[in-house]
Amino acid sequence: MSLRTLQPAASLRLLEPSPVVLLTSMFRSHPNVMTAAWMSPLGFDPPLITIAIHPGRLTHELVSKSEMFGLSIPTMDLIKAVHQCGVLSGNELDKFDATGLTPIDPLEIDAPRILECVAHIECGVIERISLADHDLVVGQILTADADDNYFTDRWIGETELPLVHHIAAEHYAGMTRTYAVDLREDEDE
Ligand SMILES: Cc1cc2nc3c(=O)[nH]c(=O)nc-3n(C[C@H](O)[C@H](O)[C@H](O)COP(=O)(O)O)c2cc1C
Repeated sequence: MSLRTLQPAASLRLLEPSPVVLLTSMFRSHPNVMTAAWMSPLGFDPPLITIAIHPGRLTHELVSKSEMFGLSIPTMDLIKAVHQCGVLSGNELDKFDATGLTPIDPLEIDAPRILECVAHIECGVIERISLADHDLVVGQILTADADDNYFTDRWIGETELPLVHHIAAEHYAGMTRTYAVDLREDEDE
């Protein structure tokens, strides 16, 4: 897989169709990975994202202590590992061993990227807000990269996108069609 570095603000589009992500974290040489669906771009300048993390997760502890996290974006062929990372806790086992996902060196932070994923975002935590049972963690994107075969300035593919979307519990969905809107067609009428 050949990964191209993206400008941090341009990498926000990696999150535009709200894909499920694999959130990696690390503290004192203890790497972990957790599935996350509650996530959103927050701003371009600086490029920010938010992610809701329950305080009961090992991930919450590692992200709070290290003040950084990585997002690796999986494709549908990884759906079993995606679900495993969302139902197993790093408190009980090593999820990289359990799933076969491969941690690889990050570019700027201490949490690993995942080899099998087609894009990665690395963030430093700038804020953590407790509003409900989950904490809202705000991350500033420090660096990102993506596989050109999947993402140019947006996810490519007119008939099918390979990203994983979450419906509920063990139910997931993929996008099977994309649409482009042309407002000039209305003006011509
Ligand atoms: C599809 C899916 C999406 C999830 N999204 C989130 C999320 O956005 N925030 C969160 O705190 N937990 C989320 N979870 C639950 C965690 O992934 C799960 O509790 C995991 O076991 C935590 O692992 P950890 O203890 O190793 O951090 C999700 C689970 C699944 C299956």
